[in-house]
Amino acid sequence: MTAGKRDINSINDLDNSEIEDIFKLADEYCASMTNPDRPYQIRGRRSEAAEFILATLFYEPSTRTRFSFESAMIRLGGNVLASSDPTTTSAAKGESLADTVRVIENYADVIVIRHPSEGAARAAAEYANVPVINGGDGSHEHPTQTLCDLYTLRKEHKEIKGLNVLIIGDLKNGRTVHSLVYALARFGANIITMPADGLELPLEVSKRLEGEFDCRPMPESQVSTILEGASRAAPIGAVYVASPAGQQFTLLGRDHWNLDDVHRKFKKNIDVCYVTRPQRERFQDDHKTITAYPIVDKKFLTGDQYRDAKVLHPLPRVSELGYELDRDPRGVYFKQAGYGVPVRMALITKVLGIRPFRSSHTSHPAIGEIYQHADGVICPNNKCITHNAAEQRYLPQKAAIINRQPISLRCIYCETSIPVAVVGNKKAKTFVSTDSLKQEVDITTAVLFRDEAQAQQAGYQLIQEKQRKRA
Ligand code: NCD
Repeated sequence: MTAGKRDINSINDLDNSEIEDIFKLADEYCASMTNPDRPYQIRGRRSEAAEFILATLFYEPSTRTRFSFESAMIRLGGNVLASSDPTTTSAAKGESLADTVRVIENYADVIVIRHPSEGAARAAAEYANVPVINGGDGSHEHPTQTLCDLYTLRKEHKEIKGLNVLIIGDLKNGRTVHSLVYALARFGANIITMPADGLELPLEVSKRLEGEFDCRPMPESQVSTILEGASRAAPIGAVYVASPAGQQFTLLGRDHWNLDDVHRKFKKNIDVCYVTRPQRERFQDDHKTITAYPIVDKKFLTGDQYRDAKVLHPLPRVSELGYELDRDPRGVYFKQAGYGVPVRMALITKVLGIRPFRSSHTSHPAIGEIYQHADGVICPNNKCITHNAAEQRYLPQKAAIINRQPISLRCIYCETSIPVAVVGNKKAKTFVSTDSLKQEVDITTAVLFRDEAQAQQAGYQLIQEKQRKRA
């Protein structure tokens, strides 16, 4: 990994001011390269990236992400190397991701990668000495789609803070949703979830929203009272201000909320419907059939609360979004796809340092101290890149230390929490349970285990047992 290079794995690798910075530059591109009747459609060509090459390394299907990245680079005057079919690269011969990117870095200045394994972009970034941008990694995240989503919201609604955003569909597997909710929380929007049955926001994501992004799930009983009060006093931003803790008040429907419920509770306040398709290719065997999937069409949008709502969709759509909305001014998903070009132009320009970010982040601002040990805990997410057969041979288990007392870890690749129940002492080969620990774990001497069985398997003994044997 090259010091100072900017990799974008998660939307949280960019802070709010950097996102604003990207949008400002995208505004410049829109102002100088679009027609007033289609202000989201970039035309023509500039020259600031004439010295640079962008490689798109796509191991999964894509239309918008790959084409808009390539279009963005070409419009900037740069060149593109594209691999959209993994069967035509050495991946088909079993080449590892680490080797592939260490070869491509010789040919290109920035790599955009899409991969079915979660955390693949972070893994690639560790081995490449050029910036790596995540174009979607399994169900984990899709940060550049979120930049397009936020930019569209800003264009349509001017400000993101205080917007009531209804997120509909497959919130479990949809990577665009995962990046989006973090960003919405960070910019102060309210999130209302409307998942299809069994496809709720992963616990991992909602826990982070609450723990790291100041979201508060609103008890159902309070929802209507607070919203009514807020809409009388001021626009919906008042909900934000009126929160008892003075913190952002995000509505997080953790259970399945049926349509009638949502309509009853949000009488006039839905500003955005973010629709997503069922991610069938990611369904595990236990979820092959979906019983009821919310469909957003003219009928769905008849309520007064949707009068000024904008309908977004990362696309592609299957049957969850009515075609009649294409002619409805509320449907802005093709503009959203169009904004992909100026937004990605701005991101490329920033990441390549042609117009550097004003702030000076190091590579992974979201990651602090790292825990890494061959014997200890492993990422519990079987879709993580560290469990991918081709990558497992060289990729270490690495975790970010989120908290020291009680100890809590998160995989640095797929960002899944790693449970730790037992702490071992490397020298003494003994272990204790984390519950019995009174002080912070000393990471330099400790090995962390999922449970006693794992510690014993690695040759560690419960401390009391060792003492008893000695006596
Ligand atoms: C999304 C993706 O690939 O995650 N598409 C996109 O990049 N615009 C959404 C999807 O496939 O459903």
